[in-house]
Amino acid sequence: MKNLFGDDDDGIISPEVLTEMLSEAFAPDELYRQTKNMMWSMVQYKEMQMVYECALKEIRTKFDVLNTEFELQHKRNPIASVNTRLKRTQSIAAKLIKYRVPFSLENIEKHVNDVAGIRVICSYIDDVYKIADALLAQDDVTLVEKKDYIANPKPNGYRSLHLIVSIPVFFADGKKEVKVEVQIRTIAMDFWASLEHRMRYKHNIPEQASISAELKQCAEVIADTDKKMLSLRDRIEAAEDAPTEEDILFEKLRRLDMPIK
Ligand code: GTP
Ligand code: MG
Repeated sequence: MKNLFGDDDDGIISPEVLTEMLSEAFAPDELYRQTKNMMWSMVQYKEMQMVYECALKEIRTKFDVLNTEFELQHKRNPIASVNTRLKRTQSIAAKLIKYRVPFSLENIEKHVNDVAGIRVICSYIDDVYKIADALLAQDDVTLVEKKDYIANPKPNGYRSLHLIVSIPVFFADGKKEVKVEVQIRTIAMDFWASLEHRMRYKHNIPEQASISAELKQCAEVIADTDKKMLSLRDRIEAAEDAPTEEDILFEKLRRLDMPIK
């Protein structure tokens, strides 16, 4: 009989051989079952991550389309950048432990709203709301939760518009509703949040209290600057001559040959 447990050079073993190895190692009893269940769990976890990855692709496309369409209408991009991330397993585990619920796929889907996260950075504060409204107006997007930390900043000065939405992801054998956390903020708010985030995860900062106080002050200045930049943009736009129908037509014709991003 061939040595089932011999060295395997290329790392690929056929399912038939693996099944034989499994039953030889653990005769069909409790250990056999446990080992198989454990492997199924790993597969299901990975598949769940792939579903969330697909949801991120879908929602990223929605923002890309909104950006392209807005650019055609208004000759400027409301979105400066988009970033997506899948929550790390360790962070998912930490969140479930914090909520005192056991680690399971069901509990992840039920309790962890930010497994899939997308951050949309806009230049101007009105674009944040325009982009959010345009997303929520789409009939396959369901709003699960909204937190407006721009209208109601956090005590530390944090500002951002947070949405938890659910979107359908279509597969060959059906569709699945998937939750995505959407954070929409201005470039200035993002600049602030990234520094504040660094401070938050650095322990033993001796001047923590005074840095926090100054950060809070900065957040107020930034919020004020965001408002001023918007009003300046509006004044500049108001001073620009309204385009004639020909201007619009020829501008659109010019853009027809531009590659679609
Ligand atoms: P988490 O358990 O952290 O996910 O928070 P939550 O479920 O209460 O949701 P919330 O909408 O308050 O925050 C979600 C995410 O927004 C966080 O994971 C951060 O990425 C970001 N965020 C929220 N508050 C702050 C803050 O004070 N500073 C920074 N830098 N980011 C924040
Ligand atoms: Mg989070």
